[in-house]
Amino acid sequence: MKPTHVAVFSAKPYDQAYLTEMADERVSLCFYEMALNPMTAALAKDVEVVSAFVNDDISAETLKMLAENGTRLIALRCAGVNQVDLTAANKLGITVVNVPAYSPYAVAEHTIALMLALSRKIPRAYNRVRDGNFSLDGLLGFDFFGKTAGIIGGGKIGMLVAERLRAFGCQVLIYEPHNAEPAKQAGFDVVTLDSLLGQSNIISLHCPLNDATHHIINAASLRLTKPGVMLINTSRGALLDTVAVLDALKALHIGYLGIDVYEQEGSLFFEDHSTDIIQDDIFQRLLTFPNVLVTGHQAYFTREALQHIAQTTLQNIDDFMAGKALKNRVVIR
Ligand code: NAI
Repeated sequence: MKPTHVAVFSAKPYDQAYLTEMADERVSLCFYEMALNPMTAALAKDVEVVSAFVNDDISAETLKMLAENGTRLIALRCAGVNQVDLTAANKLGITVVNVPAYSPYAVAEHTIALMLALSRKIPRAYNRVRDGNFSLDGLLGFDFFGKTAGIIGGGKIGMLVAERLRAFGCQVLIYEPHNAEPAKQAGFDVVTLDSLLGQSNIISLHCPLNDATHHIINAASLRLTKPGVMLINTSRGALLDTVAVLDALKALHIGYLGIDVYEQEGSLFFEDHSTDIIQDDIFQRLLTFPNVLVTGHQAYFTREALQHIAQTTLQNIDDFMAGKALKNRVVIR
């Protein structure tokens, strides 16, 4: 039997390694390090299956090119689908599958890492000690024990973060408008968004990006939060109105900001820009604050998650080619 040709975009060396290790003779993988967009879509000529990642541009224009070239399946190697025009895919007869959860533990643990690193000022302490400076001035932290933590989105990752914070002795509040039962059953207080914003010392976002959650943290919602609040976003950049967050940092209202995602990350993250002049002034301003910690969309990045992504993606492709029911098919909600 002829193998299925798969054009794999945004394929970094680590993606290539895990996919190659797990693939069998039923697929022939062609890796492209570049992102999928209307310009690069032409590379997938006569290729039935295209695989893409979080920051690929899978707009109607890209999809039209792919459809014309014979693509029938987009196998996303991520959970989030906000980068895909699902209506256009539907119209063009292109099926979209994703990896709904690779390792919620990886993201939850990274979230906690950001929180603790910010509170205990670990990046600054690391540099100081290496410089022979053992002064503690400016390194004062706070106990998580006894604090109130608010989790926006009580799904897989949000619940894991909630459990970990409860183990620290935090009172955990959850805002979950769609499926609050698991949070209630686990004994968490399910509250309104305004109540969470008003009571929490630490706020962590774990909801998807969609019309309802775009800029869910904005100037108005920030006004409801406590002075000195710690804000953490490991979900999607556009959940925060970054300009409003900058203003709140400058006004000394936000005490700590930890982000693994950024509204305009598409032109920055996953690439080495260390010798470039970065043109994004908002991002650059963020990096000047001593109480801001940014990581470049690495929350998911563990061995276990990469293994799971490769396995699920190959299984999704296999099922599609075999005409089986697709358990990870992305449908328009
Ligand atoms: P999930 O689908 O299990 O949970 C999301 C929860 O958010 C659901 O319970 C849903 O009902 C809730 N929700 C929906 N609309 C909401 C709203 N308006 N307000 C509050 N909650 C709302 O998803 P999971 O696996 O927990 O992932 C959460 C987010 O983490 C994903 O949407 C994705 O953007 C992000 N993520 C980030 C990664 C990273 O490397 N930084 C890796 C994987 C996921």
